[in-house]
Amino acid sequence: MKLAADPRLSVTATPVTVPARAPILNDRLDTLSDYPFSRLRTLLADVTPRSNGAPLMLSIGEPQHEPPALLGQVLAAAPLADWSKYPPTNGTAAFRAAVHGWLCRRYGLPADFVDADEGILPATGTREALFQVALLATPQQKDGRRPAVLIPNPFYAVYEGAAALAGAEPVFMPATRETGFLPDLDALSPDLLARTALMYLCTPSNPQGVVADLAYLKKAIALARAHGFVLAMDECYSELWDKAPPPGAFQAALALEAEKPGQGTANLLVFNSLSKRSSAAGLRSGFIAGDPALIRAFTHMRSYALAGNALPALAAAAALWGDDTHVEENRNLYRLKIDAAEAALGGRYGFYRPAGGFFLWLEVGDGEAATRALWREAGLRVLPGAYFTRSAADGGNAGQPFIRVALVHDTETVARACETIARVLG
Ligand SMILES: Cc1ncc(COP(=O)(O)O)c(C=O)c1O
Repeated sequence: MKLAADPRLSVTATPVTVPARAPILNDRLDTLSDYPFSRLRTLLADVTPRSNGAPLMLSIGEPQHEPPALLGQVLAAAPLADWSKYPPTNGTAAFRAAVHGWLCRRYGLPADFVDADEGILPATGTREALFQVALLATPQQKDGRRPAVLIPNPFYAVYEGAAALAGAEPVFMPATRETGFLPDLDALSPDLLARTALMYLCTPSNPQGVVADLAYLKKAIALARAHGFVLAMDECYSELWDKAPPPGAFQAALALEAEKPGQGTANLLVFNSLSKRSSAAGLRSGFIAGDPALIRAFTHMRSYALAGNALPALAAAAALWGDDTHVEENRNLYRLKIDAAEAALGGRYGFYRPAGGFFLWLEVGDGEAATRALWREAGLRVLPGAYFTRSAADGGNAGQPFIRVALVHDTETVARACETIARVLG
């Protein structure tokens, strides 16, 4: 049988034209600087450490303490079959109950203040959740204008990326020594607040390690309610404190409830994590908790976007939130390191003991120059403060004179590293 020629099947048809240009991507990405660690690689690309010793990474906030034995025990005991199951978007009842129990214990909350079933979601680390919250909170328009997302300056890079990619305008709130290293909430204009869709706050803060007090947190919540925006409280360093446990936003909401009942956790989402509390950054486990209306919408959104924690990881996370002993031990180790840092650096570079977290925010004159010198002379890798800050309209960058130093190694290593910083920077 002879097939009739079909011109549509002809191999000599017009050649496919290859587009000259790449596909058009989300051009909001172009508004972002490179991620701080990429910038650091570029800054140090042409610098070779003089010393033969192993380089030491004081740049990344990855706890180096051994994770608690409990983590390994629960993972080892998990039935193999659990690995074959897709994890539910809202986790397991046991996970939510463990987080709920911890919140009540830690912040003295009554059992019904945060709803264990309707007010808590698992996060695969707070990073992704802090990213997604901007997608959740950003409408097309707010007050008839482009929505703003308020971000402390300096800031955790994810806030800016999330805001920009959600289509909002990232608006930076200075958090300098003059403002106590926290944004001045009284300086926000009503005009800006009217178009604000989301405010990120971090306490204890990264990189400065300062803690917001209860009055500050109450003010932030009141602003969110008065202007109809979401307050995202990043509390992932809350368990690593020096002298006193940092207050949490739920405590502030509870105090407001006593003054004006009926609001509960309205407008508030709290983010916390096992990465720092339990030295388990690799577990990728945290939670989102708060306003049940926001949690409901978030659950809906996350049914499209969340990869989720495997059931054994959720079981391990539940066990860790249920145990405070390992956290106390962890905290004590960080205090020893801050003691060592204070002995080596006290009285220089504006040193102060961070009230929470494990970073030093040192004022060294020129953060990039100091970073290059420390890498060249001693193989110590730190991060320039300018990589955490956006420049102001006048071009000034408040982070430029600083470096951030992560005290995540053992005490002896930290002590030696801090002595080296003092020697190299003079
Ligand atoms: C301020 C801040 N928020 C959130 C995170 C995210 O931590 P994780 O995703 O491990 O919970 C970090 C991690 O370094 C951080 O510094």
